[in-house]
Amino acid sequence: MLRRLHSEQPDSFAFTDLNQKWAEAQITKYPEGRQASAVIPLLWRAQEQEGWVSKPAIEYIADMLGMAYIRVLEVASFYFMFQLQPTGSVAHVQICGTTSCMICGAEDLIAICREKIADKPFTLSTDGKFTWEEVECLGACTNAPMAQIGKDYYEDLTAEGFSKMLDDLAAGKEVVPGPQNGRYAAEPKSGLTSLTEYEAGKPQYNASAALATDIKDGVKRIQGDEVPILTPWVKDGVVAGRAAAAPTPKAPEAPKPAVKQAEEAKKAAAADVAEKEPEVLKAARDGKPDDLKLLKGVGPKLEETLNELGFFHFDQVAAWTEAEVAWVDSRLKFKGRIERDGWIEQAKKLAAGEETEFAKRAKDDGIYDE
Ligand code: FES
Repeated sequence: MLRRLHSEQPDSFAFTDLNQKWAEAQITKYPEGRQASAVIPLLWRAQEQEGWVSKPAIEYIADMLGMAYIRVLEVASFYFMFQLQPTGSVAHVQICGTTSCMICGAEDLIAICREKIADKPFTLSTDGKFTWEEVECLGACTNAPMAQIGKDYYEDLTAEGFSKMLDDLAAGKEVVPGPQNGRYAAEPKSGLTSLTEYEAGKPQYNASAALATDIKDGVKRIQGDEVPILTPWVKDGVVAGRAAAAPTPKAPEAPKPAVKQAEEAKKAAAADVAEKEPEVLKAARDGKPDDLKLLKGVGPKLEETLNELGFFHFDQVAAWTEAEVAWVDSRLKFKGRIERDGWIEQAKKLAAGEETEFAKRAKDDGIYDE
């Protein structure tokens, strides 16, 4: 299935204040230099807030994590859990259509989606409240047929029950996730055959359904005030075990479109910088090129391109002027990355025999940026 950005995009994206705090807290879970690891939770939160992942959201998250936009787009377009098109304001219903669910009635559920939501998947219902799609096995086959809405599973569905469920959701009524036929979890339909001593005194709902009902975040858009941000290792904005001055990835300071305008102004300004060819070499001095992959943002392919252009040493990169950066930039596939990844600052350090955080890690782990 081809997954692309939707043809219509909002002008901007910004996390709510509380979601922003939550997102910043998530980033502290990863070691310095590994903030990109938070990309999936942040994308998921953006989807929980907006219902889908838009281009501005992808760019916003990339800015927060210091990642190239394309990298975040790659993640968002790879995982089917991310919706790349607008979804219903109340719910995007994912019906499992794989074997167990199909045998147990998934086709009836899909027929209801066609009738009540829209004939085609990923199409907004006329009231804009719902969208639907058919998905592959969601691993709840014991409770087939089932549907996923947001993070919750609705199991043991019947056509009538599912139809009423949609009506209830449309009317703003609360619908409890989990089995819809009175079954507690995934025990035999005829009742427990073992561990029967636990039958008495069990809570009203199984753990998943209880969490959804306790937090009350079933199908609603997540604003950030649903649960406390559990990051006790962050005190007064400082992460325990890290230097107070440790750089914390920060979000764009102003929400878009202000950011967008600033970026456009920056691009326009950059376009005005006259290009000037830097001094290049035919080959590395003494046949000993520096390992340019120690610059964050330079991978094997980019290193090859730089070598072809005549750059083999950190001191060459460190000496680039603004006009020379413009010259090199226009010859690289991804414009703007010299500035974005801070090549010149890194190259100055490496040329002076100092280490950068990235170079040290790359040497220790044998991991280079792509
Ligand atoms: S077949 Fe539907 S959840 Fe596995």
